[in-house]
Amino acid sequence: MKMRMSRLPHLAIFFFAASVHLLLFSICPVSSRIYRTNDAVVIEVDDVRPSTFANRNFANPAPIPMMYAVNPYTILLSQPYSNFPFWPYPLYQQPASSSVPDVEDVAATSSESKQQKINCGVGPPSPPQRSLPVAAIVGGSEAIPNSWPFIAGLRIAGRSSVFCGGSIISPTRILTAAHCVEKMSAFNISTMTVNLGMHNQTGNDADHTRRVSRVVYHIAYNANTNQNDVAVLTIDPPIVYSAAVSPVCLPRASSAVDQFAGKDAAIMGWGRENENDTIPPDVLKQATVQIIPNADCKTQYAVGGVEMEITNQQLCASADGRDTCQGDSGGPIVVQAGSTTAWTQVGITSFGNGCAKPNFAGVYASVAFFRNWINTYMNS
Ligand SMILES: *[C@@H]1O[C@H](CO)[C@@H](O)[C@H](O)[C@H]1NC(C)=O
Ligand SMILES: *[C@@H]1O[C@H](CO)[C@@H](O)[C@H](O)[C@H]1NC(C)=O
Ligand SMILES: *[C@@H]1O[C@H](CO)[C@@H](O)[C@H](O)[C@H]1NC(C)=O
Repeated sequence: MKMRMSRLPHLAIFFFAASVHLLLFSICPVSSRIYRTNDAVVIEVDDVRPSTFANRNFANPAPIPMMYAVNPYTILLSQPYSNFPFWPYPLYQQPASSSVPDVEDVAATSSESKQQKINCGVGPPSPPQRSLPVAAIVGGSEAIPNSWPFIAGLRIAGRSSVFCGGSIISPTRILTAAHCVEKMSAFNISTMTVNLGMHNQTGNDADHTRRVSRVVYHIAYNANTNQNDVAVLTIDPPIVYSAAVSPVCLPRASSAVDQFAGKDAAIMGWGRENENDTIPPDVLKQATVQIIPNADCKTQYAVGGVEMEITNQQLCASADGRDTCQGDSGGPIVVQAGSTTAWTQVGITSFGNGCAKPNFAGVYASVAFFRNWINTYMNS
């Protein structure tokens, strides 16, 4: 008797919630989920394309409620929205290129096998010349257009330039840094796009623009210590590899420290050319740096006033006046491993004390260290 009494209101609430959801879903067909697995936070957004109804109202958007999940696992102390789960329709228009499929989009779903014919790690024959004129990443040079076919540029509503980099690891997956996506709600992710085969971010000459249907970041990512700074995005629809768009190679899983120490490595991105710059460069920049022993990096970051612990899940790289900087985060640092010219991504751009400061290397999340984690979310 008691049970029946107490269940009744719950059922009523359930039916009310279900009808509200159904009503909302018919107006704005977007649904999202945020949950955790044993080793990751997962954010899924079913479809970001505004409905016909929403499109018609873009000029003067009515306060249409939407059901976007906030991220309860973020370290954000307060969410941007106080009225969860109902907020006004976003003042955001998807770029035309992602809502109008190009010819290759149509081919994408039917030609998975075609894609396997392109090897991973295609890129320039050797690391960028150290002697090229100082023009930026910090102290880098302009990349030859599309010479790094695995680089991805991440964009989000409200920002005119790429906010983070990433790398293609499969036709549907982009590897990036957890700190690029950790503070996002499902709404934020619904406004994200990934540019592939791009050189000029200002003109946006990307070959492909993709929406993000799922974000997975490491459950132990810590914004204070910068540990576990790894994330995998699912892009939709899948891409067909071409001369301008192809995957990077990944190293085997290993927690060995210093396996790449001493190697020349290429860094690339659309980030700032100087730590005090406010405007990023138009075009993709590249530079060559050297991977340094972890012990040296630990010493650098142990100094008073900085005191950041460098661990075995990170690697560091530096060169006089050359470094990754704000906006390069999430992008790859690559080496030519073994005797091949193929480029293997050894790290994910994570953080640094300023940019290209003498005595402070750039710090990267080690891909070999996180390879098993990456595999899990690359394959499922
Ligand atoms: C998420 O969206 C809200 C609302 O538009 C915005 O204020 C906030 O800056 C966005 N967050 C990120 C990380 O872009
Ligand atoms: C990039 O594109 C913008 C806009 O189309 C253009 O003004 C600019 O000159 C281009 N930059 C370079 C370096 O080509
Ligand atoms: C950036 O600005 C800070 C503070 O003004 C200054 O100390 C630093 O030297 C500047 N860095 C560069 C590369 O100009």
